[in-house]
Amino acid sequence: MRFNLTICTVLFSAFQAFAQNSPVVIPLETTQNALVLQADKDNYLGIIYFGKKLGQPTEYQQIPAQSRQRDGNAGTYNSAYTPAGSWNVSEPAIQVTQGDGNKSLDLVYVSHKTVKENDNVSLTSVVLKDPVYPVEVTLHYKIYAQENVVEQWSVISNNGKAPLTLQKYASANLYFTGKDFYLTHYNGTWAKEMNPEEEHLTAGIRVLDSKLGTRANLFQPPSFMLSMDKPATETSGKVLLGTLAWSGNFRMDFEVDSYHNLRLIAGINNYASEYPVSGNQEFKTPAFIYTFSENGKGEASRNLHNWARKYRILDGEGSRLTLLNNWEATYFDFNEEKLSGLFKDGKKLGVDLFLLDDGWFANKYPRNNDQAGLGDWQENIKKLPHGIGYLVKEAKNAGIKFGIWVEPEMVNPKSELYEKHPDWVIKQPQRPEHYMRNQLPLDLSNPEVQNFVYGILDKLFTENPEIAYIKWDCNAITFNAYSAYLEKSKQKQSQLYVDYVKGLYKVLEKLRAKYPKVPMMLCSGGGGRVDYEALKYFTEFWPSDNTDPLERIFMQWEYSYFFPAITQSAHVTDWGKQPSKFRTDVAMMGKLGYDIVVSHLDEKDLQFSQQAVSTYNAIKDVVWHGDLYRLVDPKENDFSSLMFTTKNKERAVLFSYLTGNRNGDGSEIAFRLEGLDPAKKYKVRELNLYPGTKTAIKEDQVYSGEFLMTAGFNPVVSARRTSVIIEISAVQ
Ligand code: DGJ
Repeated sequence: MRFNLTICTVLFSAFQAFAQNSPVVIPLETTQNALVLQADKDNYLGIIYFGKKLGQPTEYQQIPAQSRQRDGNAGTYNSAYTPAGSWNVSEPAIQVTQGDGNKSLDLVYVSHKTVKENDNVSLTSVVLKDPVYPVEVTLHYKIYAQENVVEQWSVISNNGKAPLTLQKYASANLYFTGKDFYLTHYNGTWAKEMNPEEEHLTAGIRVLDSKLGTRANLFQPPSFMLSMDKPATETSGKVLLGTLAWSGNFRMDFEVDSYHNLRLIAGINNYASEYPVSGNQEFKTPAFIYTFSENGKGEASRNLHNWARKYRILDGEGSRLTLLNNWEATYFDFNEEKLSGLFKDGKKLGVDLFLLDDGWFANKYPRNNDQAGLGDWQENIKKLPHGIGYLVKEAKNAGIKFGIWVEPEMVNPKSELYEKHPDWVIKQPQRPEHYMRNQLPLDLSNPEVQNFVYGILDKLFTENPEIAYIKWDCNAITFNAYSAYLEKSKQKQSQLYVDYVKGLYKVLEKLRAKYPKVPMMLCSGGGGRVDYEALKYFTEFWPSDNTDPLERIFMQWEYSYFFPAITQSAHVTDWGKQPSKFRTDVAMMGKLGYDIVVSHLDEKDLQFSQQAVSTYNAIKDVVWHGDLYRLVDPKENDFSSLMFTTKNKERAVLFSYLTGNRNGDGSEIAFRLEGLDPAKKYKVRELNLYPGTKTAIKEDQVYSGEFLMTAGFNPVVSARRTSVIIEISAVQ
């Protein structure tokens, strides 16, 4: 199999370089960019270039000679994987304790090879080894040429017999030269996800990290933007978008060195996570994924979207289901009759699926609020005397698919599961328990717990093969990190944070082997867990419990730098004070769903919502698979606008929203559209008008793409038209 994929393999070694009397230079090139590694005369592997690729690869070798940075530290900061305890005194990518207790590691280049998987994807592996101890590190760079994306990870091998202990084990170590560096990172908490902050990096180390374990991204996601020389805009400037594919603790060090260049080290957080590697075993880090553009954040994020849809997200280029969720409509208070009514409401609305949320399970300690029952995954017989099977059938009779919520990694102390298996719970044996939302994580480092979690989903699917959707929640962070299983099996407690995530992936892997297609929403009390490793198994994520459309305009804008619209679940709810048109128009720029009481809609709102679902069905292909252009930033203006364009530039959809209303603000003048063909002619048409309202847009006017992208277009956003959706179609 592997052989078929391999078009060509190039092998090179330090020995060959020596024989040819030339340095080993490894250019890792995408269509636009290059990361160039070079082994120096002592075989230390450094990064000699990162940026726009050169026409003549042979010229990369000339780059080091241009540098006048020649003091004692020259040549150490740019290490391609910086070891600790030998010559290096800056932040390491790897730090170990050798089997004999020695704390040193050195790494020199041994060989490298490139395996081409196809015309677009190749994997370069570079082997480094310690000249003294039997430790080897292989750096892997997977290049997606067309998408300008690199996926980088490391494999650390203990080739000796004595156990090796990893103190730090980064996925990637990069080096950027430049005048200045500006880091955009995000902070947040429940219902306040993705608040951006941009800072000028100064000397020293800036760390982005999480120590929260489960729900690792509650305060900060593992995604950032790094502008070089000056802050990048949507359409200009050098910018790197980076994200760690790991659903647990992460750490990213940004170290401005004594030359004002930047070292970046990204990987699993080594906090309380010393990891043992026994003799002849290896440790594979998660992947750090990045893309770079010299043309601003817009191009960089389109790179990432193209890559993610094609190579990473489950069914990334496929379709999604619109849905009606009952969480905010009923909370825990429902029964079969009420649900049957909601199925019909969903059908009336025109969505594809009904999603039953929290509260359907547990009997001894019924799940009637968030204080009890979590862990006891049997239908609550009071609420659902005829079981899930009956609901699936009822939904089918109503002409709608059925999906269900689970939170399989967690337990309420008030549950039968906790009573039966206290040793499955993460908690310190000698300390009081500490809860978030009255619950605790189960210990997924324990294979028995992995089987239990898998079993919950497997039972649901086996008994109800027609379940068409899963929402997988995870509401608590990890306090009192301690595993009875690791203790009993004589493993190290410091493995827990890492082994938890590995355990989670084992469950998801097994689940996807048996149920490869069922769409699943990744949720963690909102956006507490959003990363590209999880999205191998999930089709979409829940960005936040905050569905106030005004907040969502800002939040979805920030998420959109890293994740394409097809992954961003966006529901129309009763949050916020805006009219239903505004709430719906905002949700339509993501993956549309509803969480409202349909029977409470007045006649006009119902008619509008029904039309909106069918309008969404007509444009969803453009939103899900098109190229995104962010045009007017809500952080800098009183309105916001963005558009999606099909790859062939035949169709586009423009969304605009009023976000501030001082002095009667709005889109007073035209702004430039993007992503169209200047030579094509287009017609514009307003979509999703509220019943009884008229458009301010002339529909018979034909514009050239050049006009729309140069003179611009005004969708006429104002206090009277607070949200506007425009379809732009090429005319023949
Ligand atoms: C948190 C999620 O973010 C909500 O959407 C909802 O599913 C609740 N959990 C249910 O407990």
